[in-house]
Amino acid sequence: MLILGIESSCDETALALVEDGRNVLGSFISSQISIHAKWGGVIPEIAAREHLSALTKMYTRLLEETKVKISDIDAIAVTQGPGLVGCLLVGASFAKGLAQAANKPLIPVNHVHAHVHGAILGIDSKLDEIFPTLALVVSGGHTNLYYMERATHFELLAHTLDDACGESFDKVGKMMGLPYPGGPHVETLAKSGITAKITMPRMLERKSQLLFSYSGLKTAVAKALKEPLSPGITMADVAHSFQEEALSQIIRKMSLAKKLRPNSKSIIVAGGVAANTRFRELMVNSSNIPVWFPPLKFCSDNGAMIAAMGYYQWQCDGDQGGMDWDVFSRYPFENFLARDLTLS
Ligand code: KG4
Ligand code: ZN
Repeated sequence: MLILGIESSCDETALALVEDGRNVLGSFISSQISIHAKWGGVIPEIAAREHLSALTKMYTRLLEETKVKISDIDAIAVTQGPGLVGCLLVGASFAKGLAQAANKPLIPVNHVHAHVHGAILGIDSKLDEIFPTLALVVSGGHTNLYYMERATHFELLAHTLDDACGESFDKVGKMMGLPYPGGPHVETLAKSGITAKITMPRMLERKSQLLFSYSGLKTAVAKALKEPLSPGITMADVAHSFQEEALSQIIRKMSLAKKLRPNSKSIIVAGGVAANTRFRELMVNSSNIPVWFPPLKFCSDNGAMIAAMGYYQWQCDGDQGGMDWDVFSRYPFENFLARDLTLS
């Protein structure tokens, strides 16, 4: 089954053709980072207009380069949320128009869930060797931990109480005067720093709940940078200490999650922060089950993850894959109940 995936929820316009949820025939990503960089963050109105101008050209090029005709495509999958409303509307309208004109089924896909399938695209194992799994989505908008028994099952085990992990990297990067998005730049700076020189708060350490929190850490960095740095302490030391705690917090909570779902066979780490090499190191060193990280091209937003998620939804439920059309959606956290676990 050949699916066209369309992603436009934030500042990347992305389209891809994926066969049977695993084989990527072509994937194009057009990043708007350089356009938004001068404001230090994404300007939603500009982002939506950029999607509008990019989508048709990218769609035409994708079909030309893969030599696929619209009649070869079985279904169209599109990000329905969460994301910036104007941006989502552009992608959803494009997909709806195409589906109507070409008489193809349309599958609305949850962007956060799709990140996990972006990671799975890079795993060279059968799905039954991966599931049940603990899947982390650590991006600019979310820090969600799921237990998944199969490709379309997402049981939310933990989320952040405030900022997302990637967002905190970006905010810290901004405070340090680094380019947008700050994540990769903070990582680079941290490489030349030393943790022991600065003490960061250990977030939610004494709480036995499966939750994440980043705002206190961000405040600690703001405080450390407010006054001139003490002699012998560099900005790189602050970046290093911040990064260690931002990532270690996730490692601590993963051991709680393993206690809660002991039959998990593997861990999948998806979302933009999965590109962080220190994160990869900490996760692999602390785990006694295989940890899967996506290849870098599937870490951040892409169309292939949307097509892959769409494929599994289709396999599972047919027609719309059980998803509602709600382009204004935010993630349904109201159904979430934080779990208390004893830290022994
Ligand atoms: O998944 P993604 O591309 O977009 C969404 O938020 O959905 O994630 C982007 C986030 C940004 O916050 C970016 O700073 C962060 O991922 N990021 C990183 C690194 N590369 C990207 N954070 C830390 N270290 C990195 N190497
Ligand atoms: Zn994303």
